[in-house]
Amino acid sequence: MKMVAGNWKMNKTLQEGVALATELKEAVKNPNCAVVIGTPFIHLATVAELLKDSPIAVAAENCADKEKGAYTGEVSAAMVRSTGAEYCILGHSERRAYYHEDYAILREKTQLALANGLKVIFCIGEVKEEREAGKQNEVVKAQLEGSVFNLTAEEWKNVVLAYEPVWAIGTGLTATPEQAQEIHAYIRGLVAQRYGQEVADATTILYGGSCNEKNAAELFACPDIDGGLIGGAALVAEKFLAIIAAR
Ligand code: PGA
Repeated sequence: MKMVAGNWKMNKTLQEGVALATELKEAVKNPNCAVVIGTPFIHLATVAELLKDSPIAVAAENCADKEKGAYTGEVSAAMVRSTGAEYCILGHSERRAYYHEDYAILREKTQLALANGLKVIFCIGEVKEEREAGKQNEVVKAQLEGSVFNLTAEEWKNVVLAYEPVWAIGTGLTATPEQAQEIHAYIRGLVAQRYGQEVADATTILYGGSCNEKNAAELFACPDIDGGLIGGAALVAEKFLAIIAAR
């Protein structure tokens, strides 16, 4: 499946988010790919309601690693699903780096998200030092084996992967189409080893990291890049719409 997904991160008040979602809803009627917007938790119910008759699906940017109970401030996968959101972004490098989400926590979160009827956009990717040391393949392999290759083939159908080199996120330093294609092909090969070629071919693998309206077409032309996970450029309707059009 081809897909363009936005990740708003910690941006936009509820009113600003509603305004952006309204603009997108009006413009996206018959997209040639799946379109998803990832919003802060507090936006989910309102934005999901707003987009209920629209082809645009809504994603949370995180969920708790516990089912329910005395975890002050946390939001469970069941709560996310109850808003009408269909997806949950997990494993984002910002969550890994700033909130210390390790392989085991992400394994729990993924299980809970899937068990509660959410589809997961699972992010992987190396930091700059790892790329410079030529270790990017090793890193993404460990991230997949550590958190998602335990899933059954049935569960895997609801997983989308997003390769996001950390050195490219929010830096304006995009991976070249060649760099991105090379590692996307490697990732698809790992999925094939684990789940078989047919499943690997059906797996959506997004590229993320300074993907914008200028470079999207070139990246999306690569055979193993099925779409994008977009941060900064997803905050401006015009830019996000241009990226959808490029897919
Ligand atoms: P960026 O973020 O497009 O602003 O680089 C991408 C992401 O973090 O998902």
